[in-house]
Amino acid sequence: MHPFLNALGIESDNPGAGAGEFLQTRGAWVESRNPSTGQVIARVRSATAEDYDALVTRSSEAFERWRREPAPRRGDVVRDIGNALREAKAELGALVSLEMGKIRAEGEGEVQEMIDIADFAVGLSRQLYGKVIASERPLHRMSEQWHPLGPVGIISAFNFPVAVWSWNALIATVCGNTTIWKPSLKTPLCAIAVHRLCQRVAAAHGHPDLMSLVIGSDEEIGERLIRDRRVPLISATGSTRMGRHVGQVVAERMGKSLLELGGNNALIVMDDADQELALRAVLFGAVGTAGQRCTTTRRLLVHESIADAFVERLVELYGQVRIGDPLESGTLMGPLIDEESIANMERALQAARDQGGGVIRGGEQPLKDTGGHFVTPAIVEAKPSMPIVSEETFAPILYVMRFSNLDEAIKIQNDVAQGLSSSIFTESMRSAERFLSMLGSDCGIANVNVGTSGAEIGGAFGGEKETGGGREAGSDSWRAYMRRQTQTINWSDEMPLAQGIRFE
Ligand code: UN1
Repeated sequence: MHPFLNALGIESDNPGAGAGEFLQTRGAWVESRNPSTGQVIARVRSATAEDYDALVTRSSEAFERWRREPAPRRGDVVRDIGNALREAKAELGALVSLEMGKIRAEGEGEVQEMIDIADFAVGLSRQLYGKVIASERPLHRMSEQWHPLGPVGIISAFNFPVAVWSWNALIATVCGNTTIWKPSLKTPLCAIAVHRLCQRVAAAHGHPDLMSLVIGSDEEIGERLIRDRRVPLISATGSTRMGRHVGQVVAERMGKSLLELGGNNALIVMDDADQELALRAVLFGAVGTAGQRCTTTRRLLVHESIADAFVERLVELYGQVRIGDPLESGTLMGPLIDEESIANMERALQAARDQGGGVIRGGEQPLKDTGGHFVTPAIVEAKPSMPIVSEETFAPILYVMRFSNLDEAIKIQNDVAQGLSSSIFTESMRSAERFLSMLGSDCGIANVNVGTSGAEIGGAFGGEKETGGGREAGSDSWRAYMRRQTQTINWSDEMPLAQGIRFE
């Protein structure tokens, strides 16, 4: 066992559910495998339906007490969680890297993202503002107040095994909610380590059941969670297929859902672009995290007049990417999460060939003897009419397409079902503004001379269309975790009706 696992309280066998303390779970054993070796890191005993039920009951009870705490007091708890994360940054970053396969710098970056959102949430805990509205009736005051919702269900994906949970949980917490986390079965250890850390802080503040963790299959636990009327909000991150199901089930019971689903992000390089900047952004966007971010650059749209030279340089840069053990310094790309991801990548590359595309490089499986799920990142010469370019394959495949003018590029970019992130590289103010305007990108995130991935937490994160429409993290995303109440107070001694209605 790696020494940082002990420091994080991970054992060879771990209970897979808990609130103030871990439960003696009795469900099926889940093996967490190191994607760089295929070896088991540790085992987790998943939760049963009874475990789940007990946790939601506790979470509901904890909510009754937690919502009474003034929001700045709730912020104190989140501040301490942020500080605990600062202390554990190296170990937790290493665990993310080990279990998920992203390089250590990105693993630590993910923990930094948690620390940042904790700081943001602490500030927010003093800024959950409602509006005061001018009443049309004399001597009346109208305003709105935001109230906590209840236990919030958080379903997270393997690719950001800790940060995306924190965007949801830490904001939900200052908003006065308790949380129930169902992490991906591919990265349960990250969740256990984070839960252990939060458990300590929450207990020290006298709210041991503030946060719950429940590890189990989609069928056993996920379905129960999304159907549970005691859980007013489900925030889910993952594939569009999963999100469509969650959205439908939650809507059926008139619950709220916050969905952050698939992306198919394009980066446009204009003929006047600073090409060196663009190359660096494409490399990080397409190869970083082995193409397993929802913000990964999947489509490169290059102006036809510079395309040949640009792609040639890109191929060169791809050749310099060191692939290997993500914990080793110097590695730029770790493995894919599992064999299925490799198969999906192969299938997509084959489809691209069948549809008339040309695989310029990539798609091999190096380092086979390690037992890890390594691939070489691929660049594919493609056409917008090829069906495969409309699909999100969670692997490092970059489809290159050429265009002759900006409107054509924007049309190609928007002509997919997903709408998460987008970028343009240009030195022209006009092109940049057009791209950002109502005539431009239809995505939730639009950048100029900044790549598609690696967003800061201060902005609202999420996208349109099949990306699900939800917004998490910064800006006013907190509103999704609260209920709004419009309040009108009559302090006159008359009973005037709105709209001037007389009822006498
Ligand atoms: C995700 O892949 O689900 O913008 C989240 C980014 C990261 C978050 C990605 N800050 O790439």
